[in-house]
Amino acid sequence: MKRFNLSLKIYIALYYSSPVTGTGSLFHDEAYEREIVEALKVQFRLEPFSYAKHVKGSERELHVVGAYTPVKGIFSVGWQGWKELPAAEFVERLIEWHNGFMRDHSGEPFFPNQTPLIVKGELTWEELKSWAVNLARYAGTSFMYEGIAHFRAHLAGLKEVRDMIARHLFEETGHNEMLFDLLTGAFGMSREEAEREVSAHDIGDLHLTKRDLYYLKLCMEGHFVEIAAAQMLRERWIPKPTRQVAIALRKVYKIPERHLIHPDVHSYIDIYHERFGQYILAKYCVTKELQEIAERAFKEAIIREYEGWRKFYETLRASKR
Ligand SMILES: [Fe+2]
Repeated sequence: MKRFNLSLKIYIALYYSSPVTGTGSLFHDEAYEREIVEALKVQFRLEPFSYAKHVKGSERELHVVGAYTPVKGIFSVGWQGWKELPAAEFVERLIEWHNGFMRDHSGEPFFPNQTPLIVKGELTWEELKSWAVNLARYAGTSFMYEGIAHFRAHLAGLKEVRDMIARHLFEETGHNEMLFDLLTGAFGMSREEAEREVSAHDIGDLHLTKRDLYYLKLCMEGHFVEIAAAQMLRERWIPKPTRQVAIALRKVYKIPERHLIHPDVHSYIDIYHERFGQYILAKYCVTKELQEIAERAFKEAIIREYEGWRKFYETLRASKR
């Protein structure tokens, strides 16, 4: 297959705390998706993904994008269209590896992203606050560089990939705001203070951290299959554990619902971001060379994220016991 010249590399949530049982494992499946989507419908008496509405008690208005869906049907419950694409088997292999990784680490108190500790209320309030700041730092850095990847895909004439990156970037940009709402609403920080805490940059000399450089390089020089693997497919662990976190933040930490839009949205949105990754990889990752670089990028991203969780855990009181 021809190598691309310029190598390239909802809304709304907020359901009441009705239990979403799923399979009891960390992985979301079609039953989980059906349940979470139904929970949204019950709350809003509306079809998810097709409306705009004020969230009760929030100043903000959540809105779904006004653009064509990047791939027809990709947001429908149980969509598996990627399985018909040429490199589906390769994608299945990555997923299998990642499921194994999740299983291997599922007994660790910080895996994934401190979820078991939060569910048991074992983070102090200050620790929970730095957990949220840390999340905002990570999400704020890792996704924003996709703006560069978006432009590169446009220049290369890769319209479908461009539109998926655009959709992803748009949503992740909004999620940053949701994190700021969590920091200011639940933890009482001012917006300025939150911006200062979260910013990785020394404003003025634009000092980039190691993490910035990693994502900058990925989005500036990476092939788009690497970006799809490291940025989109990587997010597949998020929905089910975040649902548990959303419930614990309400029930254990007594954070009012109106500040919890970020965890609520993340109880489902990455079901679709995972699909963006599956689609791009299954369609375009058809040579040995591309599969090698995508696999390497995927594993590296998963392990980097895991190491971040472990490092954060070491700062916690719970790790000293
Ligand atoms: Fe995402």
